[in-house]
Parts: sequence; structure tokens; C-alpha cells
Amino acid sequence: MSETEDPTDPGTQPIPDQSPKHVLDVDDLDPDELLAVVERAAYMKAQGGTAASGGPLSGRSLAMLFEKPSTRTRVSFETAMTQLGGHAVFLGPDDTQLGRGEPIRDTARSLSGYVDAITARLYDHDDLAELAEYATVPVVNALTDEAHPCQALADLQTVHEAFGGFDASVAWVGDGNNVARSFVQAAAAVGLDLTVATPEGHGVGQDALDRAGSIGTRPAVTHDPEAAVAGADVVYTDVWVSMGEEDRRAEKVAAFRDAGFQVDAELLGDRALMHCLPANRGEEVTDAAIESDRSLVWDQAENRLHTAKALIAHLVEDG
Ligand code: CP
Ligand code: NVA
Repeated sequence: MSETEDPTDPGTQPIPDQSPKHVLDVDDLDPDELLAVVERAAYMKAQGGTAASGGPLSGRSLAMLFEKPSTRTRVSFETAMTQLGGHAVFLGPDDTQLGRGEPIRDTARSLSGYVDAITARLYDHDDLAELAEYATVPVVNALTDEAHPCQALADLQTVHEAFGGFDASVAWVGDGNNVARSFVQAAAAVGLDLTVATPEGHGVGQDALDRAGSIGTRPAVTHDPEAAVAGADVVYTDVWVSMGEEDRRAEKVAAFRDAGFQVDAELLGDRALMHCLPANRGEEVTDAAIESDRSLVWDQAENRLHTAKALIAHLVEDG
């Protein structure tokens, strides 16, 4: 305490840092925290669904602000809140005054007065950053054009289950998109061996690689899918055309197909398959590959629930 501080006068006390913990991307969780969330998800999965009454988030609420469609993220977070004893309020693109031009900063401050956390699926990552800047409760990225950290948590749980840890080698074969960028960070945090194969001009970008380097190990990068999968235990892919890129569909599908980026039974071989879903069978993955007994995608989808529960409990209950 400084000499000028009077312990009896609240006006002279240092103001503690009240800023909430936001998760806009994987590196907002330090590696120990990330592992703790994944371990907690595994524990919660083993426990099964928790009865709503008396759950750890009893009386707590989550606002879910979604500009884009969602199956897994929406249902996993709503179910997570129910199983934790709390309540989720889903707000689609036509449900709030955002659609009539109310600024994000006003929405952030208003919602913060009602709920204990906000999860948001927005097109523009800068909008999410503004939401977090003005919110006084934790904000969780439910997918932007830049990042999908909630998916990366489920991905880590899935790899851990399949291999009994993170001593595994993963080949990303596809677009260097939001899912890829967050997975690059997650892999760096837990020491997964990762090779990222993308067609030229579709890489994850220097920022994602640099951030991985500051967390742990940077992935190897290549434009050759066959070289990437050689020696890999897992092949991970995602759609060639993400939400918001529909006007680039023809150009991107042609580029990825011509460069040999479809994950078919031959490229997959005896490796495990991961895909965040939704999948476009016949584009980035074949029906045979996704339906094969090497596919981890249904475990991966289920793990969205367990990791959503663990993350929200971590931020709200422990926050
Ligand atoms: N993987 C994922 O985020 O799926 P949804 O778009 O269905 O939420
Ligand atoms: N990259 C995809 C992921 C969907 C979960 C998209 O952004 O549409």
C-alpha cells in the first residue's frame, strides 16, 4: 500500500482489475488453462448430463448472439447451460436491435446487465473484439471469419480420447480458415505434431503461425496434401467455402479440387479422420471417408457439448 492510501477510505483504494476473461481465440487461454478445460470436459463427459436443479450455474444466464447459422455450436451451448443448471437465451440475426442498426457497443453493455456471459457467432472478428471491449461479462467466440476456439477445444478432447494423450501427428488438409487457425494454436499449446497443407494462396496466414510460435511449436506448412499425410495419424479437414464466402464458391472449389485437396479413402488410408462439420460430401471429403470406421467426426461433434460445459463453467463459475 502506498503512503497516500487510507485503508478506511474506499476512495483511495487501488481499483482491482475488473475486466472479465474473454475467449476470442485459443491463445486467450494459457496452455495450462486450456488443458484444465479439456480435462474438465473429459470428467464431465464421464459424469454424463447433470440435472438442471442445483447445477453449478443455477440461476446463471448465457446470451447467444448468432449472425450465422449453426447446428453444433448453438445446440451444444444451449444444452450445456441446461445441464449446468442455467439458462441460455438464443438471439438470431432478426431477434435483436442489432439488425436495425443498434451499435455493438450498446448491445454489449445492455446484455452485460442481464446475463453472466455472452457467446457470439459473428461474421467480422473486429465486431467480436468490440463486443468484448464493451461487455462487462465474459465473451466467448462461437466462430468468426478469423477463429473458432470452441471447435479447437473439442478437437483437443477428441485427439486425447483417440490417442490417450497428445503424442499424435495431425495433418490439416484444406483451407487455411477460421477452424484451421484456431487448431494451429491449440496444437501448439499441447505439443501436437501438426502439418498444415493448403493450396497456394489459401494458407492460415503469418499471424496464425507467429502466434503458434509464441505459444509453442509452429506447424510445418506445405502445399502438398500427400506429403502432409505421410506419417500422420489423423487427417483433419473442413469445407472449402466457409459461411460468408459464397460469392467465391466457384473459384475456391476449382482451386482446391485442382490441387488434389479432396480427402478420399485413398488419401485417408488407415489414418483417423477429423472434420468440424458441416461437411460437403463430394467436395473436401468423400462420403466413403466420412462414413469409414476411421472417422472421429461424431465423437468430435459430441465433444462440443462437453467442452462447452467445461469452458462456460470455467468462465462463469470460476471467473
Ligand atoms: N462445427 C461447428 O461449429 O458446427 P456448427 O456450424 O453447426 O455450429
Ligand atoms: N469454416 C467453416 C466452419 C463451420 C463450422 C465456416 O466458417 O463456415
